[in-house]
Amino acid sequence: MSGKVFFLMLILIVLCKTFSANNLTLKQVLILGRHNIKYPEELHRYSSKPWPPQAGAPGLLTPRGAQLEGYMGEYFSEWLKKEHFLPEGCPDEATVYVYANSVSRTKETARAFTDSAFKGCNVTVHQKDTIGPDPLFKYGIFNTTEAYKENILKEINKKLRNNSKLMAVYSELNKILEIEDSQVCKQDGICDLTQANDTISYEVGKPVVINGPFAIAHIVINAFVMNYYDGMPIQDIAWGQITTPEKWELVTEMTRQNQDIRYTTVAEDKAAPIVQYLTKTFKEYDEMPKLMLLVGHDITLNFVENAFGFKSIDLPNQFEKYPIGGKFVFQRWTNNESDYLKVEFVYPSWSQMRNGSKYSLESPPQKVVMRLNWCNTDEYGFCPWNDFVSKL
Ligand SMILES: *[C@@H]1O[C@H](CO)[C@@H](O)[C@H](O)[C@H]1NC(C)=O
Ligand SMILES: *[C@@H]1O[C@H](CO)[C@@H](O)[C@H](O)[C@H]1NC(C)=O
Ligand SMILES: *[C@@H]1O[C@H](CO)[C@@H](O)[C@H](O)[C@H]1NC(C)=O
Ligand SMILES: *[C@@H]1O[C@H](CO)[C@@H](O)[C@H](O)[C@H]1NC(C)=O
Ligand SMILES: *[C@@H]1O[C@H](CO)[C@@H](O)[C@H](O)[C@H]1NC(C)=O
Ligand SMILES: *[C@@H]1O[C@H](CO)[C@@H](O)[C@H](O)[C@H]1NC(C)=O
Ligand SMILES: *[C@@H]1O[C@H](CO)[C@@H](O)[C@H](O)[C@H]1NC(C)=O
Repeated sequence: MSGKVFFLMLILIVLCKTFSANNLTLKQVLILGRHNIKYPEELHRYSSKPWPPQAGAPGLLTPRGAQLEGYMGEYFSEWLKKEHFLPEGCPDEATVYVYANSVSRTKETARAFTDSAFKGCNVTVHQKDTIGPDPLFKYGIFNTTEAYKENILKEINKKLRNNSKLMAVYSELNKILEIEDSQVCKQDGICDLTQANDTISYEVGKPVVINGPFAIAHIVINAFVMNYYDGMPIQDIAWGQITTPEKWELVTEMTRQNQDIRYTTVAEDKAAPIVQYLTKTFKEYDEMPKLMLLVGHDITLNFVENAFGFKSIDLPNQFEKYPIGGKFVFQRWTNNESDYLKVEFVYPSWSQMRNGSKYSLESPPQKVVMRLNWCNTDEYGFCPWNDFVSKL
């Protein structure tokens, strides 16, 4: 054995000792999640072909979404039991606290998770009593300056212009929808998604909206994805025209572009409330419940990932950047001398969603370590807790 290899092995052994999972105890957990499967928006204007009937109102959690979220709750419960994290029996509010955005699908997602994780316990799902979204999960622009507006519009226009990935989605969708026969062609003159122009609407306090082909493609592709997850027969999704993983990868590029163009661009500005909430939670962790579950949206995950400065990752076995039912799991581990932060992205794979089978410790959901570049994160994903909170 060469000296170099021996030396590397020594280091590995030392590191394994320090961070051997059975030598670290899980002390606190914060789960920041996205809701599960929802019913699509109104679609009839985008194709004159018959659309499959949707069994519920746009935006509501579907029954299968509740079921799959319940499986997530059961899985987390198994994992936490394995880590001897919670006492036996029903948890009180000082131990487990659940908070959801004040729309139906986030509340129902939290409910489904909680009812399965803590069977028969009636753990309360807290929501702010507001009309419309909770300010914590809201995504309107905060920065009131003209300079900011100019920067953002420039950036968005740059990302939209001559975007070959969007063009590929639009061409495919022209064919799938037969858009030249649609109402949106007859009434709005959008008869070819690759040719029509988008209009950007930017208003302080409101989300950035991109109307035109961008919005149409986003609404339609999102519907196909939700129907796929919801178990709809393949021949009923997109009139049977999306059957291969390659085709799915092509069209779901729209969901990745939507995140990048409309949200990552403004993440630092819009993330302020949720980042403040998390920062306070982490800094005062000793007074916080052992387990917190927050349920928001894909944009909540986007804002937190970007505003905290997590390294961007290509998720294995998924086409979505922030998969439905996905969760950032902030974990505080201790060896009784020092504490460490570890963050994992836990999410269902594309085929786990379609398959709809239960998760278990033996067949878990996907887990990917998320890394903060500014924290001294080791190869197992642990960064010293004090380092983390002092730099927040
Ligand atoms: C476990 O952690 C303690 C305290 O940090 C350390 O002294 C000990 O060597 C560790 N044991 C193993 C098996 O890694
Ligand atoms: C849970 O709530 C239901 C309905 O509010 C009630 O009937 C039941 O007794 C409660 N169970 C527990 C364990 O508190
Ligand atoms: C608003 O945006 C401008 C221009 O990018 C920036 O200089 C300023 O710091 C921002 N204000 C706040 C409160 O973030
Ligand atoms: C669009 O992009 C392609 C390749 O990325 C380039 O060849 C072409 O000149 C660009 N067209 C415009 C109008 O910028
Ligand atoms: C889109 O915008 C370009 C440049 O502003 C313009 O030349 C073109 O006619 C517009 N296309 C449509 C369909 O309105
Ligand atoms: C840390 O303390 C807990 C509780 O006192 C104990 O169960 C555990 O074994 C300790 N861990 C180490 C690595 O010393
Ligand atoms: C799909 O479901 C079957 C039966 O429940 C299971 O055996 C299989 O492992 C699942 N596949 C995936 C990719 O989850």
